[in-house]
Amino acid sequence: MPRPRCDQTPAWGALQEAFADAGHAFDLRTAFAQDPQRFESFSQDAPHVFADLSKNLLDAATERLLFDLARQCELLQHRDAMFAGQAINATEQRAVMHWLLRYPAAGQHQQAHSDINSVATELTQVHATLAAMLAYAETVRADAAITDVVNIGIGGSDLGPQMAVLALDEFVTPGKRFHFVSNVDGHELAAVLRRVQPHSTLFLIASKTFTTTETMTNAASAKRWFEAQGGTDVARHFCALTTNVAAAQAFGVRTTFGFWDWVGGRYSMWSAIGLPIAIAIGAQGFRDLLAGAFEMDQHFCSAPLEQNLPVRLGLLDVWYRNFHGFTSRSIAPYHSALRRLPAYLQQLEMESNGKRVDMAGQALPYDTAPVLWGEPGTNGQHAYFQMLHQGTEVVPVEFVAVKTPRHTLAGHHNKLLANGVAQAQALMVGQIDAGGHRHFPGNRPSTFLLLNELTPTSLGALIALQEHRVFVSGAIWGINSFDQWGVELGKVLAKGIEAALGGAEATGLDGSTRGLLQRLAT
Ligand code: F6P
Repeated sequence: MPRPRCDQTPAWGALQEAFADAGHAFDLRTAFAQDPQRFESFSQDAPHVFADLSKNLLDAATERLLFDLARQCELLQHRDAMFAGQAINATEQRAVMHWLLRYPAAGQHQQAHSDINSVATELTQVHATLAAMLAYAETVRADAAITDVVNIGIGGSDLGPQMAVLALDEFVTPGKRFHFVSNVDGHELAAVLRRVQPHSTLFLIASKTFTTTETMTNAASAKRWFEAQGGTDVARHFCALTTNVAAAQAFGVRTTFGFWDWVGGRYSMWSAIGLPIAIAIGAQGFRDLLAGAFEMDQHFCSAPLEQNLPVRLGLLDVWYRNFHGFTSRSIAPYHSALRRLPAYLQQLEMESNGKRVDMAGQALPYDTAPVLWGEPGTNGQHAYFQMLHQGTEVVPVEFVAVKTPRHTLAGHHNKLLANGVAQAQALMVGQIDAGGHRHFPGNRPSTFLLLNELTPTSLGALIALQEHRVFVSGAIWGINSFDQWGVELGKVLAKGIEAALGGAEATGLDGSTRGLLQRLAT
């Protein structure tokens, strides 16, 4: 049974009316002046994440309508279908169970979800693979002869592990360097190979499908380099992380850790794809990461809508995209270790929700995923914050800050936090009587996410929060957040163009493509 389409629900109509009446003119400064409790009413704790939503362009009545929208779109039924292991990725006939990767082993947790018995076999496999993968990670960590770990993978097989290894740098055991090679551009691999030695390097070939051109090209080149440098023990120096173990073995890799087709690439850092994280922070650290994500899963499954942070964020995203018409969201991590968070979130949200058809393939009359972009604070302030404050478009900003630093350098952290809080304040209050070039319109919305500390546990919770908020907006829009057909066309065309660049005759090309090929050939 298809779920009701969001724009055909009574709540959608009520939200349109609310926007037309007063919503479009909502002023944050007035809202704070009228309601001294606004911060308390619009902020909340979720596992390991405190969220201040009070600087967003909505009042309690609008948020109630958004909760109505969620109910009328049967969001909770859809959530429960995911957590019951149903094939909600309908275009690929697959279940969506990245959440199972962080579910405690049977008997270790009072049953958190009533449907867990229906996926008991998968849960057993998850824990068997996890135990083997973590044991291997500990072996590598104890092997002082391995000084460099090179992860070769792209998209979900790169962004999650890379983002997390950087984010958890303070927890990384000294003695190993981590490199991430994703691009098919040989400059990237060549630069890493210049810095490593075959006898002290472990290559991790990370690819869910083990067919991705970039990864296969880089893996083949790395293996050729290894052998040309005199390396012989491929079994010791190459390891594959994939659902396609047979292809990895055919490639010549003996050590493999598998996962399952019910783990989407951009949701896979909790699986064997997380091996670089486990080598970096150790088995216990990786288990802490999973535990933090599991706590957020429980929050998403059990908190009432009104206090359910992924639900509130996802609904806010719908409010901004479909009613205010905002086209993008800027991610501003005020922590340099979170510098790859924006790139990670780009894939998570834009590959999941950058869709224009419903589950049945029918074109939708409303907008879906916004553009996500951003850089760490304070760097962004000296680059594009000008536009956020005084540009013609309103861009909601999502600040992510960490209360307690792990370094001891005096003065830095207060300056960092002061800047984050001040930017959110400046966006909202503006500078309205200055005039001319010094005029800041203000009333620009932002969300402030605050972690007490950046640890494996809190990072796990933060990422699971983001996964579920993307689920919520995708569920409201009625799209399949778990396929990615939009990446296929370019891959196919690139094959023909590569052949043409190699001298093959190319026919039927458009004028521009033909012109570029001629230019490249001469
Ligand atoms: O091309 C997009 C994509 O399929 C992503 O969804 C995925 O994360 C990435 O490519 C890498 O895929 P794989 O892990 O199979 O190499």
